[in-house]
Amino acid sequence: MSILFIAGSPTVASRSARLLDFIAEHVRGRGYDINRLNVRDLPAQALLHADFSDDAIHAAQKKVAEASAVVIATPVYKAAYSGVLKVFLDLLPQAGLSGKLVLPLATGGSPAHMLALDYALRPVLTSLSARQVFPGIYATDEQVEWSSEHGLQLADDVEQRLQQSSQRLLDSLDALRADQQRLNSSFKQAAPVPFSTVRCSV
Ligand SMILES: Cc1cc2nc3c(=O)[nH]c(=O)nc-3n(C[C@H](O)[C@H](O)[C@H](O)COP(=O)(O)O)c2cc1C
Repeated sequence: MSILFIAGSPTVASRSARLLDFIAEHVRGRGYDINRLNVRDLPAQALLHADFSDDAIHAAQKKVAEASAVVIATPVYKAAYSGVLKVFLDLLPQAGLSGKLVLPLATGGSPAHMLALDYALRPVLTSLSARQVFPGIYATDEQVEWSSEHGLQLADDVEQRLQQSSQRLLDSLDALRADQQRLNSSFKQAAPVPFSTVRCSV
């Protein structure tokens, strides 16, 4: 089982991507493969023209399809999520998040748009049939500082919420894996039923 981290900012030095990195570090080494997808690295023309035949788009879709959980980060742009993330989500199949656990994250310049995750991104993730969308985490620019000297410095409450959400994600993945293992072993244990003994009533 794997966790896919999707960075939805067009910026290289992205604050929202720092939140992703923090969670990725927290869940690393806990029995799940960690994969990354930077939407900004996908070919712009293929994204904008919705070119489903493009190899890079195809590979990105496959990464999403194979993930058991998706952590998705975006900056707030114009009171919603980024346009580049939207064009990528538009390229997923209608049930592209089916069966997956999803944790949304966002950073914004002002606390005024802290509900953007809930009113803008969450409905899209739900319409893509996510199994569960966890409560999102929103941080303002002031709460996410990075410097080459000190590395990432998060406001205490943001750090705490990221840690709690990482743990909740891991607990849910563990439960999902245990369910799948139970299902697999009961399927293996079930004695085959010879066709000649099957009775149908009409
Ligand atoms: C085009 C643009 C639009 C933005 N619109 C908003 C906005 O509506 N509300 C807000 O709080 N911040 C807004 N911001 C600020 C960014 O959301 C904020 O700096 C964010 O942390 C950037 O994340 P990133 O570094 O991952 O790209 C905007 C920034 C840009 C460049």
